[in-house]
Amino acid sequence: DTHKEEITAFSAQTPEQVEEFRIKYLGTKGLVKAIMGEMRNVPNERKKEFGQVLNDFKLFVEEKYESLRQSNTREAKGTSAQIDWSLPGDPITAGTRHPLNIVRNQIVSIFKRLGFAVAEGPEIEDDWHNFGAMNLPEDHPARDMQDTFYISQNPSWLLRTHTSSVQARVMETQKPPIRVICPGRVYRNETISARAHCFFHQVEGLYVDENVSFADLKQTLYFFVQEMFGNDVKVRFRPSYFPFTEPSAEMDISCLICKGKGCNICKHTGWVEILGSGMVHPNVLDNFGIDSNKYTGFAFGMGVERITQLKYQVNDLRLYSQNDVRFLKQFTGVV
Ligand code: PHE
Repeated sequence: DTHKEEITAFSAQTPEQVEEFRIKYLGTKGLVKAIMGEMRNVPNERKKEFGQVLNDFKLFVEEKYESLRQSNTREAKGTSAQIDWSLPGDPITAGTRHPLNIVRNQIVSIFKRLGFAVAEGPEIEDDWHNFGAMNLPEDHPARDMQDTFYISQNPSWLLRTHTSSVQARVMETQKPPIRVICPGRVYRNETISARAHCFFHQVEGLYVDENVSFADLKQTLYFFVQEMFGNDVKVRFRPSYFPFTEPSAEMDISCLICKGKGCNICKHTGWVEILGSGMVHPNVLDNFGIDSNKYTGFAFGMGVERITQLKYQVNDLRLYSQNDVRFLKQFTGVV
């Protein structure tokens, strides 16, 4: 009877467990065989009685085995038998596009309509493409270890600090007319905070041809801003300095957050800087055998995070890389 209790309680979830049961009770070294062996020691007059009990027990075990086997076949476990098809299904939650991708795609599509092609380059760069070819002298502070991540195994490699490295890669292989935009991730050794991160995203633009002028640069960027933010947005250019452009200018747009009333984003100036730009420095063209007497060009580089911040009022850079669904879900349906 104790065996019977144990057997009744036995449950199997897998075919392996069913087989375990068979070996334990019905196998050649199993319990049933063992008890059968005991028949030898039973006195003759009790053999009939004992035989019957044993037979019952054997049948009992076999029935249990059969029922375990039945409920562990694939059909029983799987589809039809145990599934209630009238129950509502599990919802499939669709993902959302990342806001930085949404905005990157918008930027790219605006410039595509102006005839720019997309070009990409590696995030692990060498000094030449990131700095040297871009006319950054050896002792320029941007090369300082403070800003640049160098690859420890091979310090002649680094993580690109700007997408201007892709300008170099493009001019290496293409001759004018060149008209490209280069979206990508860039890295700088900054302490992570709401306003700074060790990586962010840029879209670089480069246009090299005969007779490209600063007026072309201004009009192109003005068109971009209107397409991106609407016709009410004002732009202004401020003289600036980049080693790879001359003259250089930074472009501000009127603050979309406070509409000139004053807020933290525009530091109460009413203006927000969104990009650096300028006429490609003749040294840069010459570095790639592009005749700087014949050709001129403009270039610009904008921060995707900054533009996304203005477009969607994201006020902490860290949100972009925390993968918090409460943040990401707010972009549901935006393509
Ligand atoms: N590379 C510059 C930066 O990262 C931006 C820039 C690009 C400026 C092209 C001028 C021309 O700040």
